Amino acid sequence: MHGFEMVAHSSDLEPGKGMVIRIQGNRRAIFRDFHSKRLFCIDDFCPHAGASLSEGTILHEVIYCPWHQWGFKGMDGRCVTGSIWHVDSFEVVESGDSIWVSLEPKDKMPDSEPE
Ligand code: FES
Repeated sequence: MHGFEMVAHSSDLEPGKGMVIRIQGNRRAIFRDFHSKRLFCIDDFCPHAGASLSEGTILHEVIYCPWHQWGFKGMDGRCVTGSIWHVDSFEVVESGDSIWVSLEPKDKMPDSEPE
């Protein structure tokens, strides 16, 4: 899968909880939403004061920071709690028991679909 890296097995990820992964030396946070079961990946660094977002929670596809509860949409990393800040978000593909994450943020990915 060009432009993606396998980061975890499906069974590694508990719905509603985050997990930190490393891709090319960068920390990222992946989550499976408890209700929709959809997977999301964002930077593992809160732009407010630097908390690890993988230690936060996800509710209705919004990831909440563990320190001061800023919320970021899993889909695009936009802050939904009033800040103009956002975090990078990454494409996630689940294939069989494998979870793959894009190397580049969504807004920097080429238009083509993953192979
Ligand atoms: S460090 Fe994340 S909201 Fe403050």
